[in-house]
Amino acid sequence: MDKSLWWLKPVKSQTKTHKNSNGTFIHYSNRLVKQRTLKAITTQKTTHSFIVFPEDLNYAGTLFGGKVLAEMDLTAAKAARRILYGTPCDGAVTASLHQVDFKSPALLGDIIELTATITKLGRTSIEIYVHVEKENQQGEVATICDATFVFVSIKDGKPFPHQCWLMNEVPQPVN
Ligand SMILES: CC(C)(COP(=O)(O)OP(=O)(O)OC[C@H]1O[C@@H](n2cnc3c(N)ncnc32)[C@H](O)[C@@H]1OP(=O)(O)O)[C@@H](O)C(=O)NCCC(=O)NCCS
Repeated sequence: MDKSLWWLKPVKSQTKTHKNSNGTFIHYSNRLVKQRTLKAITTQKTTHSFIVFPEDLNYAGTLFGGKVLAEMDLTAAKAARRILYGTPCDGAVTASLHQVDFKSPALLGDIIELTATITKLGRTSIEIYVHVEKENQQGEVATICDATFVFVSIKDGKPFPHQCWLMNEVPQPVN
């Protein structure tokens, strides 16, 4: 068997699903038994922040949008990395970033707070919502932008199942 398919392990012929105490699910089919270890994700939020310095400004004197996008990607990458601890994956790469609308500008000295929330887990995909706020020097808080990222878990440079699920989702049987 291909080494990357170690989690599909033929054992014997039966028809039932069994959950072991260590979190291992065994799905029995008529001809094949497929086994995988599933990891439940409970901590869904990751935060990140920085203060706007002069080098972060565009020539109009407000926070450069590209800087915000980079920090959003970084925050989402932190969230994706954390859920992959203890899995066979090498890491996760950014596959896509959905629409970003910049709603208000940030200025020199503002604190920028980013919050990433894992919203959906596929077989190898990890959907992450990132919300960005600014806090000015009077303590007033406002939204700058938000966006949904999709990361893909990889091993040896190729998509590889992360075997994680959100606690509020029911794990799906192996196909
Ligand atoms: C992302 C990447 C690993 C996907 O590889 P692939 O062979 O096309 O992946 P597949 O078609 O097998 O899909 C794998 C998963 O990724 C998801 N996916 C792939 N491309 C996607 C996209 N553009 N948007 C959302 N999800 C995507 C699929 O839905 C699938 O999810 P699932 O396993 O949960 O069902 C590959 O395109 C890649 O390496 N891209 C470059 C990533 C990178 O360098 N990022 C940094 C940019 S500087």
